[in-house]
Amino acid sequence: MGKIILVTGASRGIGLQLVKTIIERDDECVIYGVARTEASLQSLQKEYGADKFMYRACDITDRSQVEALVEEIRNKHGKLDSIVANAGMLEPVKSISHATSEHDIKQWERLFDVNFFSIVTLVTLCLPLLKGSPFVSNIVFVSSGASVKPYNGWSAYGCSKAALNHFAMDIASEEPSDKVRAVCIAPGVVDTQMQKDIRETLGPQGMTPKALERFTQLYKTSSLLDPKVPAAVLAQLALKGIPDSLNGQYLRYNDERLGPVQG
Ligand SMILES: NC(=O)c1ccc[n+]([C@@H]2O[C@H](COP(=O)([O-])OP(=O)(O)OC[C@H]3O[C@@H](n4cnc5c(N)ncnc54)[C@H](OP(=O)(O)O)[C@@H]3O)[C@@H](O)[C@H]2O)c1
Repeated sequence: MGKIILVTGASRGIGLQLVKTIIERDDECVIYGVARTEASLQSLQKEYGADKFMYRACDITDRSQVEALVEEIRNKHGKLDSIVANAGMLEPVKSISHATSEHDIKQWERLFDVNFFSIVTLVTLCLPLLKGSPFVSNIVFVSSGASVKPYNGWSAYGCSKAALNHFAMDIASEEPSDKVRAVCIAPGVVDTQMQKDIRETLGPQGMTPKALERFTQLYKTSSLLDPKVPAAVLAQLALKGIPDSLNGQYLRYNDERLGPVQG
């Protein structure tokens, strides 16, 4: 039986490219994609076939939908080899001193539900299946450079990704590394909808012009990464596995320690 891989945020950007890269590299694997935009997931299934790409169109914070998906994987395959927890959001972008209302805190909570608590839920629901894999199974978290340094206005996002880095460490510490491994990958500054939102809406609303300038410049100089670049690293980790030496670590997509697994 081929590898069974779950990818969240499969409808666009890095996650969409990741699904394509995995299928191109391993024609025996089966991918389960999750995102809210059904049309994109449908078109992936049309392109690759329902024996290769299955999906659930839902909000990642909807526990009952995620439970049903895990149940479906258990019934059909009895195992899960890799998860790539890629779905994420950036909003609210606002400096701490301006986030004074109850609504601001609700926005922080929503971001944490999507970027962190949904992932804790997913991992806890999937652990028994991951341990049922005949191979060492892999949990790959898509983190961010913002998890280890401040970006003006991105406090909620940075905190949620920092929590993810810690969660990977915790999994590595608690789970036997001959059964399950976890790693956090920062994908670089990638040419996706999230960057467009930073330039056009979220950034102008909530960042200082100086902090926004870096992202505008990367775009203007065509220096944003093609999603294929981080997708290659994520695909390799999902397919070939997380080396024991990287278990629990946070790494940038181009870290030399990823050498053997890089695209
Ligand atoms: N682009 C960058 O420069 C960059 C840099 C550092 C880290 N990252 C991280 O990379 C990951 C992918 O980002 P991207 O750049 O590809 O962004 P993107 O183009 O905005 O894609 C985000 C993906 O997450 C899904 N998603 C968001 N909220 C969701 C929810 N509530 N339920 C289910 N799915 C949800 C979206 O699908 P639907 O809208 O269809 O639900 C979409 O597939 C994120 O975790 C992001 O934080 C990106």
